[in-house]
Amino acid sequence: MTKYENYSLRNHNTFGIDARCRFFVEYDTPEELHDLLLASPAMPLLHIGGGSNLLFLGDFPGTVLHSGIRGIEAEEDETAVRVRVGAAVQWDDVVDYTLSRGWYGLENLSLIPGEAGASAVQNIGAYGSEAKDYIERVECMDLHTGQRRTFRNEECCYGYRQSLFKQEEHRGRWAVLYVTYRLSKTFSPRLDYGGIRAELENRGLAAETLTAQQLRQVIIDIRRAKLPDPRQQGNAGSFFMNPVVPREQYEALLARYPQMPHYDVDDSHVKIPAGWMIDRCGWKGRALGRAGVHDRQALVLVNLGNASGQDVLHLCEVIRNDVREQFGIDIHPEVNFIPASGRQ
Ligand code: EPU
Repeated sequence: MTKYENYSLRNHNTFGIDARCRFFVEYDTPEELHDLLLASPAMPLLHIGGGSNLLFLGDFPGTVLHSGIRGIEAEEDETAVRVRVGAAVQWDDVVDYTLSRGWYGLENLSLIPGEAGASAVQNIGAYGSEAKDYIERVECMDLHTGQRRTFRNEECCYGYRQSLFKQEEHRGRWAVLYVTYRLSKTFSPRLDYGGIRAELENRGLAAETLTAQQLRQVIIDIRRAKLPDPRQQGNAGSFFMNPVVPREQYEALLARYPQMPHYDVDDSHVKIPAGWMIDRCGWKGRALGRAGVHDRQALVLVNLGNASGQDVLHLCEVIRNDVREQFGIDIHPEVNFIPASGRQ
């Protein structure tokens, strides 16, 4: 276990915001976390993962916890494999590890930043796949009592970037210890999303003979072309969620914007890309103080150098207002804001 006092969180959030916390503790086993909780750590508590979806709005007055639980264990049968992963394992290492063993499912989720624990909280998703499609169970510790509890997939209330762990009454309560994914030994590629087929064609790759490693590489290259590398420019991936609107509202907008892209959610709902709306509002590549909008993907807000959380929040609010005015749609951040009070 490692513990620091008055510690900068700059290297623990991909936005690169230089907020400080009173204490920072990284534990290596569930038992260490249990003992720590019994020893009355300075409150409030905040459990973080890779920090790829966090925005610190100021210094954090209590204890920031980070898991150091690593390791991957697998249990195979004829057709499938269960992979139990420590919360602190890098997500993309899970993807790489499983694909290289012929265990399929996670290929479209390649190169998403963050740790395995957060995949279960955030229900990370990209290119037509979501973590919830593969998660079998999530082993947690209750930060209020130190008790362990396992949630089955059905109990996690998964939705688009949503889970039980993000709901008001559960937020901040559970530390994820291990996540178990159920993967297949048969490769069934998902190619019908976001330009994957066009990119396969560009490369002369036929869907029938495509390997999982080739698909992973295509996804990695598409992501790299659109999304800024947080090591070069602070950011937290998509800053906003794509709003889901009633079909009538979508159709009314379509009359005004015939080029508007969309994804059907169900018979009566449609998802509209927030990035497209922000782009139409003229924000792509623009700056407001030390925060800005990425020049290749308007859904991504970036730290232009020494931005504070408040700088990013200000930009976020101005963009939300513009989108509301132009499209009549309220967009909501996907990124979790951590206020200086510590209360989420
Ligand atoms: N678009 C624009 N201008 C922009 C950005 C997008 O016109 O500046 C248009 C695109 O041309 C496209 C549509 O909007 O027609 C959707 O864009 P894209 O395929 O890039 O995906 P997205 O909806 O912006 C979502 C996820 C991403 C994920 C991609 C691919 C959310 C909030 N974001 O973005 O997830 O990688 O689809 O599956 O659902 C993340 O969560 O951090 C993330 C990167």
